[in-house]
Amino acid sequence: MKKIISVVGARPNFMKVAPLHRAFKEFSIYNLEFTIEHLICHTGQHYDEKMSKVFFDDLELPKPDFYLGVGSGSHAAQTAKVMIEFEKVLLKEKPDLVIVVGDVNSTIACSLTAKKLNIKVAHVEAGLRSFDMEMPEEINRILTDRISDYLFVTEKSGLQNLKNEGVPDDKVFFVGNVMIDSLIYYQPKVDQSNILDNLCLFPFSFCLVTLHRPSNVDTKESLEKLVDFLNRLGEERKVVFPIHPRTKNNLEKYELLHLLNNSVKISDPIGYIDFQALVKYAELIVTDSGGIQEESTYLGVQCITLRTTTERPITVEVGTNQLIGIDLKKAESACLDVLKGNKKEGRIPELWDGKAAERIVEIILSDKIN
Ligand code: UD1
Repeated sequence: MKKIISVVGARPNFMKVAPLHRAFKEFSIYNLEFTIEHLICHTGQHYDEKMSKVFFDDLELPKPDFYLGVGSGSHAAQTAKVMIEFEKVLLKEKPDLVIVVGDVNSTIACSLTAKKLNIKVAHVEAGLRSFDMEMPEEINRILTDRISDYLFVTEKSGLQNLKNEGVPDDKVFFVGNVMIDSLIYYQPKVDQSNILDNLCLFPFSFCLVTLHRPSNVDTKESLEKLVDFLNRLGEERKVVFPIHPRTKNNLEKYELLHLLNNSVKISDPIGYIDFQALVKYAELIVTDSGGIQEESTYLGVQCITLRTTTERPITVEVGTNQLIGIDLKKAESACLDVLKGNKKEGRIPELWDGKAAERIVEIILSDKIN
């Protein structure tokens, strides 16, 4: 029997591990002579009910086998706490493989801890690069890839980036996108969501906004401009703005939250299924998230990304994403352009077909985690 531990920490991790868990379970049903025990470790980087528990419920994930409860903190404190707690789990459980996903602090913390105990590491969503070393996620990606034994890549740019960095070809596998696996798998549930009715929205007649990157939400000046931008957008369409805790804390700190007009509907973070319904039926999405660039591309929804770089260039090259930068005047004209009907044509990137997790499990198991 082989034991595998997958790590989740922050909101964008949960929907990436759900399809892997399902694929391992299916494998175990069909292969009686070679069994796999797939365990889930939640570091607790995100801990609010609405940033974490609702995702376990929506994604039908079992209660995590291990919960490290690390919570928030500075980068060093958070990363260090995850390492200390995860090491205890690894020493007790002695897994054959640790799977990490994405680029959050829990990703590097757990891969580093495992590797130093000579436990193999698989990185799902490897090879993505923004080439912006001021992003903590970029540092996490580069370091995690450097020490991983299996690197599972979502888009072709990842293959080239890893080649340029000298990663041997036999560690790298182009498998598609587990986040899109979830998007496809949960569509029947998404179609039953009542969120549009609850928020009095009509399909394709509203803008969905999510912003949480420090470059957009950490200073008073950028938040003041953001409030003006959202109010201006609200003159054109209803705006739905589920607010990340970081953004909410800062809007409150600078006493700006009450300046948003009524046409901007603010809410707490929204669960996976309801949020995907908003993504699917938005006329336009404005975001600085990584994953939403991909989800909108898959669904063919117009997306304006308020960042200067993207580690997911395929969403701009073939998808419906436009990388606008963080100048909100420029963003305003790009949004108005889309709302006037100037839409960007897009198509679905290669291998974003709902089967990435199956491919990953097949590769890991055919290798028998030697
Ligand atoms: C993290 C990830 C980022 C990802 C984002 C998605 C890193 C470096 N960053 O950023 O890549 O896009 O998650 O949400 O790992 N907070 C709460 N409740 C929670 C979680 C956070 O109130 O459940 C608040 C805390 O005040 C915390 C702040 O949000 O200090 C930031 O949380 P943190 O996990 O440090 O980073 P995120 O900005 O969420």
